[in-house]
Amino acid sequence: MCGIYMTIQQTDVHAGEKVFAGLKKIEYRGYDSWGVVVLNKFGFTLKKRTGKLSKLGQMHFVEGKCALGHTRWATHGGVTKENAHPHLAKNKSFVLAQNGVVENFQELREQLLDWGYDFDSETDTEVIVGLLEFEMEQQKEQKLTSKIIRSVFRKLTGRNTIAILTQSGDSFAVRDGSPLIVGRSKDSAEIYFSSDVVSLSGDAVEYVVIQSGQMVEYVGKKLKITEVKSGKLVPFSFVPMSLDATVVDKEGYSSFMLKEIYEQAKVLSKVVVGKEKEFKAVAKTIKNAKTVFTLGAGTASYAAGHTAYILRKLGVPAVAIASYESDSFKQLCDEKSVCIVYSQSGETADTNEVVEWMKAKGAKIISAVNMPGSTLTQLSDFPFMLQVGPELAVASTKAFFGQMVWGMTVCELLSGSKFVEIKEIIYKFEQQLRVWFADILVQDKIRKLAESLVHKQHLFVLGRGDLYSSSLESALKLKEISYIHAEGFSGGELKHGVIALIEQGTPVLCLVAEDENKANMLNAISEINARGGFTIVIASKDNELYKEWIEVPELKFRGMSFMTLMSIVPSQLLTCYMAMKKGCDVDKPRNLAKSVTVK
Ligand code: F6R
Repeated sequence: MCGIYMTIQQTDVHAGEKVFAGLKKIEYRGYDSWGVVVLNKFGFTLKKRTGKLSKLGQMHFVEGKCALGHTRWATHGGVTKENAHPHLAKNKSFVLAQNGVVENFQELREQLLDWGYDFDSETDTEVIVGLLEFEMEQQKEQKLTSKIIRSVFRKLTGRNTIAILTQSGDSFAVRDGSPLIVGRSKDSAEIYFSSDVVSLSGDAVEYVVIQSGQMVEYVGKKLKITEVKSGKLVPFSFVPMSLDATVVDKEGYSSFMLKEIYEQAKVLSKVVVGKEKEFKAVAKTIKNAKTVFTLGAGTASYAAGHTAYILRKLGVPAVAIASYESDSFKQLCDEKSVCIVYSQSGETADTNEVVEWMKAKGAKIISAVNMPGSTLTQLSDFPFMLQVGPELAVASTKAFFGQMVWGMTVCELLSGSKFVEIKEIIYKFEQQLRVWFADILVQDKIRKLAESLVHKQHLFVLGRGDLYSSSLESALKLKEISYIHAEGFSGGELKHGVIALIEQGTPVLCLVAEDENKANMLNAISEINARGGFTIVIASKDNELYKEWIEVPELKFRGMSFMTLMSIVPSQLLTCYMAMKKGCDVDKPRNLAKSVTVK
């Protein structure tokens, strides 16, 4: 959701092209319009467009050593060229781009209108521009200063990250919420500001993550970080770009999503690498908690649901909360509570808001996040990096698997297994998944099924017990990429209403494990068959009841059942193949953003 990319070059005059290329790398965040502004001795030259920049191929910009770019995901005001960022100040002394929402925008806009400010757009962003200009006038300043930016920023409510480029080539950025990273090239001749680390690959060799509440300025070739509130200097050091953070290549796959699905067979073991002490500390904290909450949004909420399920099976009082439905849990949370939070981005506004009130109530926050330097990491008492590598497709796959494995590891430690045993079984699962991916017969079957399902209107996914969360996640994957109406249900829920929807040919994916739920799942399958439904069963063993069987390996280790993961992989593939067949954009499904940083 919205992205910022800015550069200040010492000698290269193609800053515009560099920023355009940078914006392409943050496209995955989701956007509907974009803009690039280049600064040279004649002033600012703006280029703004609605629609996707990837479709435009090579673009040329006026020469200039400084440029600021932005991808906008519309919140205030429609998808128009006028509303696209960056916004140029009326006095032409600076340009500004924003990620976030100015919550008191109406009140500030009215104030500015009273003062005679004439708005060119419908955005909340222009309110910031107006306030900065007004403050410059009040303070009789020709140039924007950090003091002015600080005082205006303090007037804004909501979470906002802004980037500013001034006429004299000074650059400023303030972070509150949405991420902000500063990178520099090998010889420090080039400076970059971006919304994520991944996009800096190829441009910067080292980076520093700006934390929420901090302001960064690059003035006269000097980089300074300060606290926004106090103006106090913040010491910082650059860290080298790691290889993992820079892999932004499809590596021969037709989409990032397909690549990330296949990567699940090699990145899950990274979740536990080098973390034994930390995992044990977390297990101890959970053991001593009065109540354990597990929290996440969308896909991450299903990982949260699964972790809570296995915790309860171990006798731990655990409750899963979907971030957007948290109100009723407030009274249950206190200083004896622990919250396990899952988030790929660590920037999901709905999730972070819950974490904030839980923290205020004294609860301990444990998080498993995939993006280094995210807000959630900062908010956590026990922050964990999932280490599964950048996830660039909008739909979460390997990060979700990372969250599931993280939860399974903690639960298995709680039930007394050794860390080394858990590590080994995760390696074994990766191995099994690699073998399964290489099985041409199964893969062909999934492709053919995708073809036969592509024109269906509805599809249901049933799972029970351990596989209930898997059914919800499978359905979400199917709907968000291939736009088929898919719903996940408990196998037990069928008779209580859902069965009314089953008619001749209705496809129903059934997830069946060799466990205590199997008999009930077989009953459900018989009932669907009896009404003409088309049952596609994902299971390790065949059965005459199954109309179609997708064979998957079933790996178990004490309380850990990898069927929860394995049963989802066919749906991940099915949705990709169906989307491809329909000509949909697999990596950037309509209306969705990778990082949902506004509420
Ligand atoms: C679905 C998906 C979303 C995210 C949700 C939370 O494929 O990706 O449902 O899981 O928006 O995002 P994070 O994990 O970044 O907090």
